[in-house]
Amino acid sequence: MKEQLKLLRESSLSAIAEAQTGEELEALRIKYLGKKGELTAILKQMGKLSAEERPVMGQLANEVRNALEASLEERKSAVSALMLEKRLADEAIDVTIPGKKQEMGHRHPMYTALDEIKEIFIGMGFTILDGPEVELAELNFDRLNAEEGHPSRDWSDTFYFDEDSRVMLRSQTSPMQVRAMDTMELPIRIIAPGRVYRKDEVDATHSPMFHQIEGMAIDKGITMADLKGTLNTVVEQLYGKGTKTRFRPHHFPFTEPSCEMDVQCHKCGGVGCPTCKGEGWIELLGAGMIHPRVLEMAGIDPNVYSGWAFGIGLERTAMRRFKIADLRLIFENDVRFLEQF
Ligand code: PHE
Repeated sequence: MKEQLKLLRESSLSAIAEAQTGEELEALRIKYLGKKGELTAILKQMGKLSAEERPVMGQLANEVRNALEASLEERKSAVSALMLEKRLADEAIDVTIPGKKQEMGHRHPMYTALDEIKEIFIGMGFTILDGPEVELAELNFDRLNAEEGHPSRDWSDTFYFDEDSRVMLRSQTSPMQVRAMDTMELPIRIIAPGRVYRKDEVDATHSPMFHQIEGMAIDKGITMADLKGTLNTVVEQLYGKGTKTRFRPHHFPFTEPSCEMDVQCHKCGGVGCPTCKGEGWIELLGAGMIHPRVLEMAGIDPNVYSGWAFGIGLERTAMRRFKIADLRLIFENDVRFLEQF
């Protein structure tokens, strides 16, 4: 029996010393010290011993138990220290590894140009309006005095949604004039930027989708002088003080009189060069005094109120502002292009 206890002590202590986890240690505790464990099995033989031997063996067995328990405790704290060390090593962050670079996008030059124009108009007390790209032909044409049969209403120019040409992709931002007149209190001062659609083939200067900014002011006593003064102020802020403009007569169904405004070529100063195609001037926008019939259709008395309106192409403005030669670059969203601005 003494021999058995010695063997048990040796084998159990070395097994405990090798245990790697808390679970392993618990299993060993049960194996040696549990109710059905090996030490208990040995103790069950005590009854066979003589009265002299019994206390000696009992003491020895106690020593073995104490040694086992102490060694289990000791190993347990060693194991948990080991586990902690392992976790710390596994979860360590190597701050010297180069990070993953987050590619940043880039503001589109057209929106930079739009923001500049918005700022100028906000500074003059204008409100910025937003409206639908899917529009009623009634607002895009009828309410703008472009009657049935007007060439711009043709199926070859306009994207319609239905057979009887009632719903369409707006071909201009001018229906925003009507929407403003229908919903806002007079006097009105608005600009309305947004997408417009026409059946044009894509080339260096055309796209079936492009952007316009509509501008409109209605009040008592508004004249063509207000239109010219406002637009000249905008042009000077966009292209620099002293930039010359010129107003040429034109025709739009919803303005009377109508005009187009040109700016003197910034490249050649009006002499003529490839940028202005030898003209000395670059066409910038269409404008005019709101037709009395358009005011009337919106329930505004043209004998009391008058107003002006203009429409400017945003892509072309941005192209001029940033010297971009091809319209298609504006829509391709190639970061190599965008990063240049
Ligand atoms: N809507 C016109 C166009 O697309 C531009 C315009 C707007 C002209 C407002 C006059 C007044 O060409």
